[in-house]
Amino acid sequence: MALVTTTEMFKKAYEGGYAIGAFNVNNMEIVQGITEAAHELNSPIILQASAGARKYANSVYLVKLVEAAIELYPELPIALHLDHGADFQTCKDCVDSGFTSVMIDASSKPFEENIEITKKVVDYAHAHGVVVEAELGTLAGIEDDVKVEEGASSYTNPEDVQEFVNSTGVDSLAIAIGTSHGAYKFKPGTDPKLRFDILEEVEKRLPGFPIVLHGSSSVPQEYVKIINSNGGALKDAIGVPEDQLRKAASMAVCKINIDSDLRLGMTAGIRQTMAEQPDLFDPRGYLKVGRQNVKDIVAHKIKDVLGSDNKA
Ligand code: G3H
Ligand code: 13P
Ligand code: ZN
Repeated sequence: MALVTTTEMFKKAYEGGYAIGAFNVNNMEIVQGITEAAHELNSPIILQASAGARKYANSVYLVKLVEAAIELYPELPIALHLDHGADFQTCKDCVDSGFTSVMIDASSKPFEENIEITKKVVDYAHAHGVVVEAELGTLAGIEDDVKVEEGASSYTNPEDVQEFVNSTGVDSLAIAIGTSHGAYKFKPGTDPKLRFDILEEVEKRLPGFPIVLHGSSSVPQEYVKIINSNGGALKDAIGVPEDQLRKAASMAVCKINIDSDLRLGMTAGIRQTMAEQPDLFDPRGYLKVGRQNVKDIVAHKIKDVLGSDNKA
């Protein structure tokens, strides 16, 4: 199978009450860990690259790595998605270089401007068979080089979603209901709660329309512990409870974005191996442990959180 768009994946996920995992990729080991898990569990998958990933690895390498996964697992529906495209040109570059889905993130712009930029991207992408995700509302945390302070974040206003979707023609919509990017999503001692009332309101206004959740890492404490007991210093790292993600997946949420959890798994594997084997200097020795952690994390998400196993 060649790379696919997310259209079919989302339609089935919406109807089946599950979600597709969108995992960020930056290098070969991460692509391998994610796709090996998806293959073994027969799950559709979205591999997404941020601007930072494209700069780090070079977009050509990332596209070729994903093409390698397609060749190895021809039965698996895989979409290649641009995560947080900042402007029309970035989205166009990705459409032109083989991505099957792009996100235009003009969520920090005024509503009318967000519509205008998103529509321009939609017109270009659709003319080339590529689908588009946009965002309404802003998440706190770090998106590439843009740090959104907690006070500057805002929940999505359900009153806006119909006008936005109808006037842009966008294929899916990321909304802000209390998730945030990175490993420090909630203050210690507080009760992490997503705003399901907002999700319900959005769902009512856009029946059948796929919703996206960014900032959906759960920050598994077992990996945080491994990192911290092997020289790391991640204090008060807290993620989104998995039962709330499971609930979102059973509703209109069809795409759940996860990056930080994979970073934690990779880092834990590398730190632990280096600490246990101080004489090791072959990068394969520690990268393979990080890769295995990525695979284990993705397998757990597919089976126990997203519910996308056996849906390929
Ligand atoms: O939404 C942000 C993702 O975690 C990507 O992070 O821009 O550092 O690659 P990055
Ligand atoms: P996390 O930082 O929670 O993994 O979010 C990733 C994300 O939203 C990528 O777009
Ligand atoms: Zn994001």
